[in-house]
Amino acid sequence: MSRTSDTSHTSEHTSDVLVVGGGIIGLVTAWRAAQRGLAVAVLDPEPGGGAAQVAAGMLAAVTELHYGEQTLLGLNLESARRYPDFAAELTDLTGHDLGYRRSGTLAVALDADDRAHLRELHALQRQSGLDSEWLSGRECRRLEPMLAPGVRGGLRVDGDHQIDPRRLAAALVAACERAGVAFHRTWAERLSVVRERAAGVVTREGEVLGAGQVVLAAGSLSGRFPGVPDDVLPPVRPVKGQVLRLTVPQRYAPFLSRTVRAVVRGSQVYLVPRENGELVVGATSEELGWDTTVTAGGVYELLRDAHELVPGITELPLTETRAGLRPGSPDNAPLLGPTGLEGLLLATGHYRNGVLLTPVTGDAMAHVLTTGELPDEARPFTPRRFGAVLTEQPA
Ligand code: GLY
Repeated sequence: MSRTSDTSHTSEHTSDVLVVGGGIIGLVTAWRAAQRGLAVAVLDPEPGGGAAQVAAGMLAAVTELHYGEQTLLGLNLESARRYPDFAAELTDLTGHDLGYRRSGTLAVALDADDRAHLRELHALQRQSGLDSEWLSGRECRRLEPMLAPGVRGGLRVDGDHQIDPRRLAAALVAACERAGVAFHRTWAERLSVVRERAAGVVTREGEVLGAGQVVLAAGSLSGRFPGVPDDVLPPVRPVKGQVLRLTVPQRYAPFLSRTVRAVVRGSQVYLVPRENGELVVGATSEELGWDTTVTAGGVYELLRDAHELVPGITELPLTETRAGLRPGSPDNAPLLGPTGLEGLLLATGHYRNGVLLTPVTGDAMAHVLTTGELPDEARPFTPRRFGAVLTEQPA
């Protein structure tokens, strides 16, 4: 491990908190911290960009439950519980419609194996005390007539909602501006460390932005932010997701009335219908480093799998294809709070749940930035849980 001191001069831009990364996680952290009276700055060339521009925005605590992720489930449910008030506050404050839609989710099975898998998921959901109802294939089609005749059964989860992440990001930028958050629209070159403490960030232009506390919220880029000591660097990696956007012409509406999802040949596919006629189809999951190319194979697989679920999609205009990078962590859960380097905190590693976890992350980060302690619900997500990877500094 090497820890170097920064000898550059701090500019006149000094804040209590400097958030590196203006995606939804960085923005919600900045907004909530500013609401608590801290002087906050965000460093990002394009605030409101990042993975939120690609994500479908499913708030899927129940249908995305996986074995071994019960601790994460607690945080996901807590964030889902906070969503109505969070969305209402953000809309009241900014006037932005967030596309928040409480129309529920239907997870369906296309063959006997899928059906067995979904039955197991249903059992796990019930053991975990979650609301989820088993439906026959016919009942699924009665709810969603566009579903393929071959659908064998499914889980109706009315509590898994959706939001439009692009609108959410724009609203958070507006909320930050209203709360007095300063935006530095440039790239961060590296962390500035002075006397064994994070002291700010050096910009691409060579300016040092000083800060009492630095929050690294740069999504998948957080895992390779220069200047962060090796033993503190978060174990976060990019997991590529390709996503399609189709448009439902008025004459076909309502095409789907809720999110429909399935696992087809081992891959997740979901269709998220927005009120404005957009239909989001996602997503691939690819461990390909920093590549964000939209590939013919990715588009083909998504359309093939979505077509098996809802054959009528081939009639719809394909309006957009995008790829983004999920910040994956070793246990698929976020890293929140202080690190082994004084003055440096993390808000990253949200993997498949960044949009869902936005409200609880903002609250937890504002709490730790003002008190030094994570609130109870966020304690299991301390970066220090990775032990040897992220340890305290020896005295
Ligand atoms: N949460 C959906 C995805 O990551 O694809």
